[in-house]
Amino acid sequence: ASNGLAKTPPMGWNSWNKFAGKIDDATVRAIADAMVSSGMRDAGYIYVNIDDTWQGVRDAQGVLQPNHKFPDMKALSDYVHSKGLKLGIYSSPGPRTCAGYPGSYGHEELDAKTWAGWGIDYVKYDWCSARTIYKESDLHAVYQKMGDALAASGRPMVFSLCEYGWGQVEKWGPEVGGNLWRTTGDIRDEWSSMIENVEKQVPTAPYAGPGRWNDPDMLEVGNGHMTDDEYRTHMSLWALVASPLLAGNDIRDMSSETKAILLNKEVIAIDQDALGKQASPVKSGDLETWIKPLADGSVAVGVVNLGSSSAAATVKARDLGLTGEVKTARDVWSHTDVSFKGNTYTATLPSHGALLLRVSAGK
Ligand code: GLA
Repeated sequence: ASNGLAKTPPMGWNSWNKFAGKIDDATVRAIADAMVSSGMRDAGYIYVNIDDTWQGVRDAQGVLQPNHKFPDMKALSDYVHSKGLKLGIYSSPGPRTCAGYPGSYGHEELDAKTWAGWGIDYVKYDWCSARTIYKESDLHAVYQKMGDALAASGRPMVFSLCEYGWGQVEKWGPEVGGNLWRTTGDIRDEWSSMIENVEKQVPTAPYAGPGRWNDPDMLEVGNGHMTDDEYRTHMSLWALVASPLLAGNDIRDMSSETKAILLNKEVIAIDQDALGKQASPVKSGDLETWIKPLADGSVAVGVVNLGSSSAAATVKARDLGLTGEVKTARDVWSHTDVSFKGNTYTATLPSHGALLLRVSAGK
């Protein structure tokens, strides 16, 4: 059953890509502060999500306690909430998480209640060691168990399924109360990994929509191993495929380029569009064109240069599925209006660069 959450793709931050095991209460608080001061919160990045490595031991009643890095989860959640943000947490349906910490196996209802009591707003549930107990065909039932436990907890929590694209999750994710599900293995802060992830989820496009999102994994923007052109392409693609936007960098320490990428309101608006369509690509040589219909009748069109030299990208109005002549065309990266000539628009893209336009038609 649907929990009514995530009508648009969830936006926020997650600790894993940058911090992995080096995450603690003080860092989460400092990130929350930075989400506010940097403008991330006001741009829509609301969730502050603790990933793996927070877990300690179960007490005599079986309640899972956080470890020494997180002395008081309720106090942390109160702090995060006081900043106008929401707090997320992480677990696994198996006995152990991917990093070897205790999972929720055999304690699903108790864990959901515990998180509700702490004021948790978002749960990422990562298959990991569940594979030692269950088969891939059990995925649906195993995620159902936690989905039911979350629903019974009395607190609305976004439910994020992390199963690396296994088990055709996009077909049953909504049934178990899931709001998003991974379509791929883990992203790495590399061009090839980023492109591979977004291309791998192309077949799932028909299943995306409000409350139900395909997740090609968290953002690597600002983590340092791609160029700014590549990070702009990363952000463009995540917006075109209506991906969750979970920043994975250190929000306390962002370059002006990283900020301009993550905080670009026109790009965020494409991701967050109410229609919730996931773009699919059409490939022509090294150029890949992605078209996303938007709620107001306009379309977002992205062209990505996968090649190793610069290339001319041509957008043809008649390929965009618009009725009538192009009325407005906005380059959402340069924040300028551009014009179609004879129904085409051409721009030169650097290697691994992207063009992203918002185009409307009419009188
Ligand atoms: C898996 C997930 C990652 C991250 C790690 C934590 O690899 O796919 O996103 O949560 O586990 O251990």
